[in-house]
Parts: sequence; structure tokens; C-alpha cells
Amino acid sequence: ADVAQARTDILAWFDRHGRHDLPWQHPATPYRVWVSEVMLQQTQVATVVPYFLRFLARFPDPVALADAPQEEVLALWAGLGYYARARNLHRAAQEIRDRHGGELPADLAALEALPGIGRSTAGAIHSLGQGRRAAILDGNVKRVLARWHAVEGWPGRSAVARHLWALSERYTPAQRCADYNQAMMDLGATVCTRRAPRCPQCPLQARCRARASGQPESWPSPKPK
Ligand code: ADE
Ligand code: SF4
Repeated sequence: ADVAQARTDILAWFDRHGRHDLPWQHPATPYRVWVSEVMLQQTQVATVVPYFLRFLARFPDPVALADAPQEEVLALWAGLGYYARARNLHRAAQEIRDRHGGELPADLAALEALPGIGRSTAGAIHSLGQGRRAAILDGNVKRVLARWHAVEGWPGRSAVARHLWALSERYTPAQRCADYNQAMMDLGATVCTRRAPRCPQCPLQARCRARASGQPESWPSPKPK
């Protein structure tokens, strides 16, 4: 009952306050979600948008990307940084062309086996792009879950990460999974921010243990020195 009520509250918040107008949401194909998620791994939404639009105009599908020379892929990435992301994207597109018939595989394990696609990115593609149920755990979702449940310890430790993944799996719904995942990312980006979270605007405020402590910004624990 707690789980169901939390999902309901998160989805109701999303309908009113979540982000519904990001370019990769219209249409949210697996390829578009994949490219956007890789760009968003280390870069803010506002920076990503124009890069995403240029990238999709030049490489509209995985085969167009796979067939392009690497220097052209890197040229369209110039300014985003972390160029290993672009090289992995290009290599993954070649695997998709050569081993998956030119389409992103519809299977979570096959997605995770592609270069540059970790568990959370695979979950985002599977849910947002493929309409399936899959949990995610990016930096924003980690922060929301760590505060909500007052999870102690640095999330870079494997035991802490396992705990956070278990929480993410517990709450992720089968119905409206894409909206739920987008809601959690949006909550972390716009309400449960790293500094000065806006708890009075949060659908989790009544159940959040970090808020109850009076010091929500103390979670998640920093990397030990
Ligand atoms: N950061 C990572 N994925 C995102 C998404 N789908 N929307 C907004 N911010 C994100
Ligand atoms: Fe974050 Fe505050 Fe919401 Fe807790 S109540 S999840 S600390 S914004």
C-alpha cells in the first residue's frame, strides 16, 4: 500500500510538474532515447538539446550513425566533452547494424552488452523508448532515493549501490513505467536538487526520512576521503 501510494503521488506530480516537452520525448524511439541518455550522462539538458537536434538530423537512425566516419561523429560531439561516449556510441551503432538488424535490441541484457550502455541507461532505453518495465538509477534518482530512505553511505560503494537499486526496483511500476522514470529524473533535477532541495513542493515530503531529519542535503553521503 505504501508502494502503491508513493507511485500514485509521483505520477500525479509528473502530470502537473514533470517535463513533457524534451525533444527526445517526441517521438521517444529507442534510438532517440539512447542518444539523449548518453549525451545526458555528464551534460545538462539545456546544453544537450541543440547537440541532440543536430546529431539526429545528421544521423537519423543507428545505421546512418554506424556508416559514418568516426571523425564526423566526433565533430558533431565537439563541445560536449567526454569523447569516449561518442566513440562508444559509434561502436555500439556498428554492433546494432551488424548483429541486431539495425534496430536497438528489445532485450535488457542485450542492451547492456553494448559499448557505453550501463544498467541505468539500458533501463532508460527499455522503459522510455521501448515501453517496457525497467528500473533506472542515474545520479538524480540516486539522490532522491537516498534522501527518501535516508540511505547511509557513499553510493559509489557497491553495497550502497545495491541497496539503491533494490529500492528503485521496488517502486518501479509496470503501468506507466516510462512516466514514473521520467518523474524520478525530473524530481531529482528540479525539486530534490543537490543543494537546497524544495521539499515543500515534493510529492514525497510526508514520507521522506531526510526531510524529517531537517538536513536533507546531508544525503547522499560524499565520497570518503
Ligand atoms: N537526464 C538523464 N536522462 C534524462 C531524461 N530522460 N530527461 C531529463 N534529464 C535526464
Ligand atoms: Fe528530496 Fe525533500 Fe523530496 Fe525528500 S522531501 S525527496 S529531500 S525534495
